[in-house]
Amino acid sequence: MASKAFGIDFGTSTIKIYKKGQGIVLDERNIVAISGKNIIATGNDAFDMYEKAPANINVSYPVKNGVIADVANMMELLTHFIGRIGGAKRFGSSAADYIVATPTDITEVERRAFYDLIASSNLKVGRIKIVEKPIADAVGAGLDVMTARGVMIVDIGADTTEVSILSLGGIVLSKLIPVGGNRLDEAIKNMVKRKYNLYIGDKTAENIKKKLASAITSVEASVKVYGRDVVSGLPTEMEVNSNDVFEAIAEYMYSIIDAIKIILERTPPEISSDIIDSGIYITGGSAGIFALDELMRKETDLKINICPDPANTVVNGLGQILENPQLATLADTIRSKALS
Ligand SMILES: Nc1ncnc2c1ncn2[C@@H]1O[C@H](COP(=O)(O)OP(=O)(O)OP(=O)(O)O)[C@@H](O)[C@H]1O
Ligand SMILES: [Mg+2]
Repeated sequence: MASKAFGIDFGTSTIKIYKKGQGIVLDERNIVAISGKNIIATGNDAFDMYEKAPANINVSYPVKNGVIADVANMMELLTHFIGRIGGAKRFGSSAADYIVATPTDITEVERRAFYDLIASSNLKVGRIKIVEKPIADAVGAGLDVMTARGVMIVDIGADTTEVSILSLGGIVLSKLIPVGGNRLDEAIKNMVKRKYNLYIGDKTAENIKKKLASAITSVEASVKVYGRDVVSGLPTEMEVNSNDVFEAIAEYMYSIIDAIKIILERTPPEISSDIIDSGIYITGGSAGIFALDELMRKETDLKINICPDPANTVVNGLGQILENPQLATLADTIRSKALS
């Protein structure tokens, strides 16, 4: 086993990396800015350029819907990030091991792409292992996944929501739906255009969401936003109201709840009784939506546990798997999986 080891959560909006013995060493937007063939900025610096870059600079997210959509750019980004946090380049002194979290409900080809990305990169690589993302999530949430006790975990990220049932260190059921924070941002953007006659950018929509989005109608609030007037074309400031935001995002809240209900309906009865006991665990950055737990409790009649630091549960779980030899069996090599 190599002396260095990294655990990586390739999120759609952010990439998080855990370094064995150190903790989370990188948490940046998973984004790259390119001009011609040259990378001119990565991560948070590239995000600053997003929606502001001139036509010759292309700013893009290489992970889409939880899977690698742009291999070349993801590889460049990874090499860059690992270099920054002291990983081994191909001709460096020692190799590093990698464990990567991948969604469960994807094809073997898509899963393999995470492995190949690291294996064929410019990094000096020891062993590469894959951990099912819901398992990393549950470990990061502090749950004992090795027992026969069934657990339901729901990760609401940026492009995806993954609803899973775990038992005995494995996945019983898992469903990945293309709904997450990005859909909410898009819905808010469209609503502001329609109701306020104002064009706003993705970043502004995300800020509105973080300040005003609520899963239930609650105390009315508003925020000042800047955009471009649809009619006059001039830069304009307006106050966006929380009730309008609530109406814009409500249907997506119910898409997530429907996915939870579908999985609950398919859950073996013995596991259902465990879930009645312990409730549903919610992770992912979008778990930060105000009163999400209240709406989910009302709709499912189950206890809802919003995990602390929800955007980092997966990477923290990978970290625990790296640090704790008793959890090592949760990480699998892709070869045995692909051939089985
Ligand atoms: N306080 C908050 N309220 C609502 N949404 C939030 C809050 N904080 C972060 N988010 C949203 O969480 C999302 C990012 O979460 P996370 O880091 O779990 O996603 P990801 O892992 O990159 O995506 P995915 O798992 O879909 O690949 C973004 O859409 C962001 O806007
Ligand atoms: Mg994620």
